Amino acid sequence: MNTGLETIDRGAAPVDAGAKRMINARADVNQLLPLRYRWAWDRYLAACSNHWMPTEVGMQADIALWRSPDGLTADERLMVQRNLGFFATAESLVANNVVLAVYRHLTNPECRQYLLRQAFEEAVHTHTFQYICESLGLDEGELFNMYREVPSITDKDAWALGHTRSLSDPGFTTGTAEADRAFLRDLVAFYVVFEGMWFYTGFAQILSLGRRNMMVGVAELYQYILRDESIHLNFGIDCINQITLENPHLWTDAFAGEIRGMLGEACELEIAYARDTMPRGMLGLTAEACAQYLRFITDRRARQIGLEPLHGEPENPFPWMSEAMDLRKEKNFFETRVIDYRSGGALAWD
Ligand SMILES: [Fe+2]
Ligand SMILES: [Fe+2]
Repeated sequence: MNTGLETIDRGAAPVDAGAKRMINARADVNQLLPLRYRWAWDRYLAACSNHWMPTEVGMQADIALWRSPDGLTADERLMVQRNLGFFATAESLVANNVVLAVYRHLTNPECRQYLLRQAFEEAVHTHTFQYICESLGLDEGELFNMYREVPSITDKDAWALGHTRSLSDPGFTTGTAEADRAFLRDLVAFYVVFEGMWFYTGFAQILSLGRRNMMVGVAELYQYILRDESIHLNFGIDCINQITLENPHLWTDAFAGEIRGMLGEACELEIAYARDTMPRGMLGLTAEACAQYLRFITDRRARQIGLEPLHGEPENPFPWMSEAMDLRKEKNFFETRVIDYRSGGALAWD
C-alpha cells in the first residue's frame, strides 16, 4: 500500500510523471509535480475559483414564506422537508467516503489535491443544511435523523454505504482485480449515483420551487451546491475512466453488466424516494416527471462511463435544469458574488 506515510526513501530520484498511476502507484504520492493528470489539477483550480459560504445568501423571503400558514401547500412543505432531510446527512456520507475510503486508495497527488478541496466543499454543504435548519427554525432532530426514519431515504443511504464499508476496513488494500473492482464500485456508487443521480432530482425539486419564486434563498444555495456537485461528478467520471484506461482487464463483460445493474437499482431507489417526497405531485412537478428525469440522467451517466443506456434515452422533462447546470451561464450569474466575496473585507488576519 502506498499511502504517503511510509519511511522516506533517502536519496531516491525525483518522480517521473510517466510512473504516476491512479491506483496501486509505486511513484511517491507526496510529490505533486511533475503533474500527470492535468484534468485533476484543472478541476482543483475550477473548484477553488467557485468559493462560497452559505451565510452569504439571505433567507428573509424563505423565512417569511415558511412561517406563513398559507405560504406553501402541505404537499410542497412535505417535499421540502424530505428533500432537506435527505441532503442534511447525504453530504456527511459523501464526505466520509472521500476521506475514509477514496483518499487512502487513490495513489495520485493531483487527484488527492482535488479530494482535499472536495472534502472542504462537502463540509460547506453540510454547513448549508445547518444554516437552512437554523434560519427556518426546523426541528434539528427531525431533519438530521430523517435518514434513519424515512425508509426511502434509509434505503438509498444503506445501498451506498454497502459499497464504502469494505473500503474503509483498515485491512482493505487494492492491487488484486477483485479489490480494484470493489474500489471502482465505490466510485460509481458515490460519484456517479449519489452525487450524479440522486442529488439531481433533489436539485430539480428545489429549483422548480425557485422558478416559481418560492424558497428563493434555499434555491440559490442549491444552485451553489449544484455547481460544486457537477465538478465532483465530472472528477469521479474522469477517475473511473482513467482507472479503466490503465487497467482494462478490470472491465469484463460481467463487470460492465454489474455496474449497469447498479445504475438500474439506484434509479429505482430514487424513483421510490421521489414518490415518497411527492405522493400527490404539485404545480410544475410530479413524481412521474421526476422518474423520467432520473431515467434520462441514468442513461446519460451510463454513457459517460462507457456503458449502454438502460432506458432508451428518454427526453429530458426538465430542460430548464440544463440551464441551471450550464457552468458558463452560471459563471455570469455568480461572478458579482465572487467579486463581492473577495472584496468583502472579511479577510483580516489580526
Ligand atoms: Fe456535496
Ligand atoms: Fe459532492
